Amino acid sequence: MATDGKITWQRRHLLGLEGLSRQEIETILDLAASMRAVNNREIKKVPTLRGKTVINLFYENSTRTRTSFELAGKRMSADVINFSVAASSAKKGETLLDTVANLQAMTPDVVVIRHSESGAPMFLTQHLHAAVINAGDGRHEHPTQALLDFLTIRDHLPHLGRDSCEGLTVAICGDVLHSRVARSNAIGLRTLGANVRFIGPSTLMPSRAEEVYGVKVFNDMGAGLAGADVVIMLRLQLERMEGAYVPSVREYFKFWGLNQKRLAMAAPHAIVMHPGPMNRGVEIASDVADNPERAVIFEQVANGLAVRMAVLYLLCGGGPRKDELPPAV
Ligand code: CP
Repeated sequence: MATDGKITWQRRHLLGLEGLSRQEIETILDLAASMRAVNNREIKKVPTLRGKTVINLFYENSTRTRTSFELAGKRMSADVINFSVAASSAKKGETLLDTVANLQAMTPDVVVIRHSESGAPMFLTQHLHAAVINAGDGRHEHPTQALLDFLTIRDHLPHLGRDSCEGLTVAICGDVLHSRVARSNAIGLRTLGANVRFIGPSTLMPSRAEEVYGVKVFNDMGAGLAGADVVIMLRLQLERMEGAYVPSVREYFKFWGLNQKRLAMAAPHAIVMHPGPMNRGVEIASDVADNPERAVIFEQVANGLAVRMAVLYLLCGGGPRKDELPPAV
């Protein structure tokens, strides 16, 4: 792991990409790229975080994020506790504040939280001494997903004919309204200098998206995909919808699903990404998702591990921190 002692990192928590500078994002990506060496060794373990404790506090389901945070901590020799909400006292009516007070008593170094309420990770920072990492909060942000997306895009820049994200066109398609991944991606990609497009039906588009996120909005897949270098498909989040945002799943795929014909409208070298979980035949056709020439979906998952190792390293054992600890509960 070549960190060569030159990393400077001042932040105590990672709550979102809003406010992170290009240099901070690139520091995480550079470190994540070097972390990949650990994952390619025969003995995939380093002592970097020995003696540190990471608690995974997931109030919503997760496959990729929870597993990769767990593995990231273990690869660096941290003690990792998975707090399963389904099997916890939260199910017996314990408030988030009481849960957090109990976690504080166990003196963790990092708490990774996923919660359906936007702002839950920020709430934790006010009541914990530990560093807090947002693993997805409501419709707000999912910073480590966006970072692993950037690392994947960065890996493909030579194939896309570029040496940086500056001027790259990235199309983020589908249910943007309910997507914390879209928000973190848009914020971070704009910081890295990319042109970002949001494509989707107007019912699934955040209000004032162009003004708020500095993106261009398209309500037509053909126009939005034209010339795009990177296509990020989003899951249709039916569980977050209270009304009829789309006529039917079948209709949605017909107008907004990524099939081969639509993909041909993007740049010929365009790569296809998806944060998962994928709904085949809803937002993406199977032959696009499984196309080894275009889809980089499992590269995203592999990079997720490296990015989460980098973030844990920086917040738990990395560079110097100048800020003050928050008050205890
Ligand atoms: N992309 C993502 O957050 O996947 P999980 O819900 O499986 O963690």
